[in-house]
Amino acid sequence: MSDIWTADAGWALPALVTTIPGPESISRVDLLARHECPAITARRARQGEARGIGSDPIVWERAYGANVWDADGNRFVDLTGAFGVALIGHAHPEVTDAVRDQAGSLLHGMGDVFPNGPRIQLMADLAELAPPGLSSCILASSGSEAVEAGLKTARLASRKPGVLAFWGSYHGLSYGALAATAYKGDFRAPFAGQLGAHVTHMPYGCELSMLDQLFTGPATGGELIGTVIVEPILGRGGDVVPPKGWLAGLRALCDKHGLTLVFDEIYTGFGRTGDWWAGDHDGVVPDVLCIGKALAGGMPVGACLAKPETMAAWGSSQGEAIHTSTFLGHPVTAAAGSAAIRVMREMDLPARARRFEATTRARFEGVLPVRGRGAMLGLECGEPGLAARVMGRLLSRGFITLPGGVHGDILGLSPPLMLSDEQRDAAFDAIESCVSEERRLGS
Ligand SMILES: Cc1ncc(COP(=O)(O)O)c(C=O)c1O
Repeated sequence: MSDIWTADAGWALPALVTTIPGPESISRVDLLARHECPAITARRARQGEARGIGSDPIVWERAYGANVWDADGNRFVDLTGAFGVALIGHAHPEVTDAVRDQAGSLLHGMGDVFPNGPRIQLMADLAELAPPGLSSCILASSGSEAVEAGLKTARLASRKPGVLAFWGSYHGLSYGALAATAYKGDFRAPFAGQLGAHVTHMPYGCELSMLDQLFTGPATGGELIGTVIVEPILGRGGDVVPPKGWLAGLRALCDKHGLTLVFDEIYTGFGRTGDWWAGDHDGVVPDVLCIGKALAGGMPVGACLAKPETMAAWGSSQGEAIHTSTFLGHPVTAAAGSAAIRVMREMDLPARARRFEATTRARFEGVLPVRGRGAMLGLECGEPGLAARVMGRLLSRGFITLPGGVHGDILGLSPPLMLSDEQRDAAFDAIESCVSEERRLGS
């Protein structure tokens, strides 16, 4: 494979913007608005927030490397990696080749009933890359579905119904995952009456002694808790790194009270934080690991990994599998996953993420506070809602970003890790000037 870090011009181009939104995007978005549930076309609603600057949705036409082109021919540099999915770059040639080859031979498997080669290979590849001992797997088609599988596994292993989750966490929006999610009230409020009351939420990074008391009971409700689910670094919650030793403390508490520890590494996994797994920074291995996003280089996927002794709690199948889905172990997605994992190793993603962090911290020192780790960083804009306005302004300059944090004050950076130095430096200059322009307007 060529060295894609110093790749040819087709892989890493600077931002180039003409008009945003252009006429083609506007006409397609009008059509979209007629047919899609209004809650989903979220960026329309941000129009006012962003003062009309680059705020209407652009319609994505193609993406390659760190670049995205819209339907009007505008070219952007993507600093989000599309929610963190494109960690090895959009449409990596090895992934698209694997997809094309596999689609030509076996496009669909049959869930759990008949295994297929790529599904078996992907599980073996994941077991090799996973933290030690997490060699047993349930495949899924999204991160939320991986969390559902993780919560079910932990329920069975711990034999207790209660779940402890943390404020600011985002675990997905399907009902089981949503019950644990505590990122923003809007996601939960309309469905609150239908969310299981089995989840207790505590502050992220809270005193471990408080949790010890909670689990000990009596009559705190904590004695019913069997599962602890946690993002080792809060992602959408604003790139929050917990206090040093906190994850190790959670591990110790779970061991003490016989609880099953689930790490949601859907965002943090696959080298993004400067180590293959965010738990590695604290030397902690969970009982269950939920992964997704970057795993298949852009194809929809998730997985729940566990220690065999933990997974054994499911028992053996007595006929119909009690956990499955139509697209479980989809061969095209699985082939993409194995290809993406090969590329991740070749690229040495953890080293690239560490380099990105060092450069970003040096660049923004004295300009904006930086939080997070590796290539999962948040720039603290210092004012609720400011990050969304900066996002709109950056879009009009050709850079795709996302606001984060429960107060919308964090500008998140989780770029593809083949971002060129030129793309990165241009993005940083644009961010600095857009933040100061927005602050000036606000004052
Ligand atoms: C930490 C974490 N868990 C779970 C999810 C849900 O994944 P999906 O959107 O693929 O269902 C996300 C998505 O952003 C996430 O960041």
